[in-house]
Amino acid sequence: MRVTDTKTVYEPRAIATTDELTLGELAEIINNLKAVPKLDEIKQWFSSLLPRQRDYESYRVFASRKYARNLIARSSFAELLMLCWRSGQRTPIHDHGGSVGVVLLVEGLLTETMYERAPEGYVRPYNTFRWGAGGITGADVPDIHQLLNLQPPGRDMVTLHCYAPPLSVLNTYSPRSSRVRHWREGYFAGGAGI
Ligand SMILES: [Fe+2]
Repeated sequence: MRVTDTKTVYEPRAIATTDELTLGELAEIINNLKAVPKLDEIKQWFSSLLPRQRDYESYRVFASRKYARNLIARSSFAELLMLCWRSGQRTPIHDHGGSVGVVLLVEGLLTETMYERAPEGYVRPYNTFRWGAGGITGADVPDIHQLLNLQPPGRDMVTLHCYAPPLSVLNTYSPRSSRVRHWREGYFAGGAGI
């Protein structure tokens, strides 16, 4: 769902359905996986998820210098994280180095810019989306993107991420250079970008 409004708090769906997942149940699914889940399967989990603030409050932790990555669950096949962003914080332009990634916007308004490789090796933007609470966006293996909290000062953003398999390297790109950097987990675990 692409939206242009600026709702800042997730509003639980009014009508409960039998296939709704709690965050704890989703963490159990991640912990008990027997194979790497597909992009569409992760999107289905996220579309069934009811992210109640009392369930995710302990992972809703921000950092002042960079966006914060808070691990919820990890197995050999996937990981689930809550990322918390102050206004202005953003990722580098990146791909996921062989993992698929799905994002659920929990609070705030997410800006996602998609990039493509230009013939000279640089990257150039070709599309920008804005996602409101409840929005789900997925990045397949070759996709290059940047996630940003471009809301005004004081407007926080909270996102839920699932990577499959767990991220081991973040390849980062620049519109001004053809150089591709390879950030290992020890470097980006605390929050890459600014
Ligand atoms: Fe990403």
